[in-house]
Amino acid sequence: MAAVVLVGAQWGDEGKGKITDYLAEKAEVVVRYQGGSNAGHTVMVGEQEFKLHLVPSGILYPGKLCLIGNGVVVDPAVLVQELDGLAERGIDTSSLRISDRAHLILPYHKGLDAAEEERRGQAQIGTTKRGIGPAYVDKTARTGIRVGDLLDWEEFRGKLARNLAAVNEMLAKIYDRPGYVLEAILDEYAGYARRLRPLIADTVHLVNEALKNGRRVLFEGAQGTLLDLDQGTYPFVTSSYPTAGGACIGAGIGPTKINKVLGVVKAYTTRVGGGPFPAEITGSIGDTLREQGREYGTTTGRPRRCGWLDTVILRHAAEVNGLTGLALTKLDVLTGIDPLRICTGYRYGGEIIRDFPASLKVLQQCEPVYEEVPGWQEDITAARSLADLPAACRSYIRRLEELAGVPVHLIAVGPRRDQTIVVEDVF
Ligand code: IMP
Repeated sequence: MAAVVLVGAQWGDEGKGKITDYLAEKAEVVVRYQGGSNAGHTVMVGEQEFKLHLVPSGILYPGKLCLIGNGVVVDPAVLVQELDGLAERGIDTSSLRISDRAHLILPYHKGLDAAEEERRGQAQIGTTKRGIGPAYVDKTARTGIRVGDLLDWEEFRGKLARNLAAVNEMLAKIYDRPGYVLEAILDEYAGYARRLRPLIADTVHLVNEALKNGRRVLFEGAQGTLLDLDQGTYPFVTSSYPTAGGACIGAGIGPTKINKVLGVVKAYTTRVGGGPFPAEITGSIGDTLREQGREYGTTTGRPRRCGWLDTVILRHAAEVNGLTGLALTKLDVLTGIDPLRICTGYRYGGEIIRDFPASLKVLQQCEPVYEEVPGWQEDITAARSLADLPAACRSYIRRLEELAGVPVHLIAVGPRRDQTIVVEDVF
């Protein structure tokens, strides 16, 4: 039995799409367990680029069972569009199943997301406006509508009518915005119900059966540790649990079933949206990283803020996820930057702190403590083993491992599937 959870070790956008795609070749089942269409996983297959938002990356290999777990919030409009787009490119999506327990994103979730962001003014979170927060609010308030409700139209209509009454009142009284029309949403969602009906299933049972039968299962996290509702930089976080524990809840498996937790870490740090970011680089090296690393949001196109590798964050990620290994991505983007810097701690109030603080006020006042290390000039995109890498590059990796306290298992030196160095097999 092998159950591997793959999580982002930073603020999302670590290049998880490429690593999941790599691991999905050996996995037999791939499961998304949280988040929704706020995620954007870019995967290169040969020269073809795929941008996936909801469908697990395993779909790009024929015949893999791909599950959208109960912890995901599903926007059926995005899902149907994504399925159509994949079909147009000759990808068979018949092996996808969607949890009947997953919650649906409705048009008013997106409207409320935008309205609430506007109301926050300067204190904006910088959400993707995909309706994620409001959908999880409904879930915890126990007014959510689930994917399984699409199978019982009377149930769906009743819940939607009840919710709309409250939502429309809120939009009018708090946000001064027009409300939503029941029949229009019913018409739109009837189409999705017809389309998605054959894919709706008890994915909890499917994944547990797969584990019982010794199948290799990959749990594909979206976003990252610092966007986790509890372990991230609250309130500048998403509304789900990207950390490894989220896989148990969001897929419906027990913690005893997980064998390995792989943290995906980019060779530098990026962040989209608001919030403190101690190792941020505001000068020209930040621009170089953004351009060389193509650091623009997959979902929103927003430029990402760029910074040096921050090992305070990595140690936090190692702890809260129980990381057993790291997948280091975009190492090639650092080529030509010399010297490099690694953040080893924060200076706060005359002291050096090495643990990631909970308080944003503290984090805002933290100054990064850097260690300078030599960079390299050689093109590393054709490297296929550690021995192919320049000495300075190997030292950078070793130092990262030491400071994070976790060994590197995989290294990505380019976006293509074959541009991967395997230090230790994950499956
Ligand atoms: P939300 O998930 O749309 O509510 O956005 C909340 C925060 O999470 C914002 O700072 C977003 O930029 C960030 N976020 C959400 N999804 C992703 C992602 O896939 N990558 C990076 N940041 C994300």
